[in-house]
Amino acid sequence: MNQKRAVLLLKVVLWLGALAPAGFLLLGMFVYPDWVGANPIERLTHVTGMTTLILLMLTLTVTPLRRVSGWNPVIRLRRPLGLFAFFYALCHFSIWFVFDMVFNVTWMLEDIAERPFITVGFAAFVILIPLALTSTKGWIRRLGRRWTTLHRGVYVAATLGVVHFYWFVKADTRLPLVFIAILAVLFGARLQAARQRRSGRRNKEPEAATAASGSR
Ligand code: HEM
Repeated sequence: MNQKRAVLLLKVVLWLGALAPAGFLLLGMFVYPDWVGANPIERLTHVTGMTTLILLMLTLTVTPLRRVSGWNPVIRLRRPLGLFAFFYALCHFSIWFVFDMVFNVTWMLEDIAERPFITVGFAAFVILIPLALTSTKGWIRRLGRRWTTLHRGVYVAATLGVVHFYWFVKADTRLPLVFIAILAVLFGARLQAARQRRSGRRNKEPEAATAASGSR
C-alpha cells in the first residue's frame, strides 16, 4: 500500500471512530431510548467527557508515535484528532450549560467558582479554544514558532482534563489513574525527545567550531 492510501485509510478509520460516540448518542436520543437509559443527561455527559479525554490522549500520542516509527505521514492525524477532541469538549460543556445551568451565566460562574472539578474542567476547555481556532494552515504560517509554543497548551488541557475526571470520580479512581499513567508516559517521551535534541545540538556546536577553525 502506498503512503497516500495508508493515510487515507487511517483518516477514514479516525473519522468513523470519532463520529461513532456522537452517532450512538443521537440514535439513543431519537431512535433507541434504551441506549441512553433512564438518565440521558448523565449518559450524554459521560460519553462526551470520556470521548474528549480519549481523543486528547490520542492527539498527544501522534508525535511520539512518529518519532518511534519514523513514519512522518502519521502527523496528518494530529489535527483532526485535536479538532474532534475540541468538538466533544464543546458538546460536553454545552450539555452542562444548557441542562444544568439552563443558560444562566450567573449560575455558570458560581458553579465554576464553587466546585473545583468544574473549575479545572472549564480551564481545560478555555485552553482548547485558541488551539482549535489556530489549527488552520494560515494560522500556522502567521504564528511561526509561536504556534508550536501555543499548541503545547494541549498538554496543560489534557492534564487539567484528567484532574477534572479524578476529582469527579468519588470512589473508584482506577480509570482516572490509568489516564494519569498514560499522560506520565507521554510527558516522559516528550522530555526524552527534548533532551536528545538538546544534546544533539550541543554535539554539533564543537563540530561546527572545529570546521570553522580548520577553514581559517
Ligand atoms: C477538556 C475538557 C474536559 C474533559 C476531558 C472532561 C472529561 C470529563 C469526564 C471523563 C467526566 C466523567 C464522566 C463520567 O464518568 O460520567 C466528566 C464529567 C463531568 N464534566 Fe467534564 N470534562 C471537560 C470539561 C468540562 C467542562 C468545561 C465542564 C463544564 C464547565 C464539565 C462538566 C462536567 C460535569 C458536570 C460532569 C459530570 C458531573 C456529574 O455527573 O455529576 N467538564 N468530564
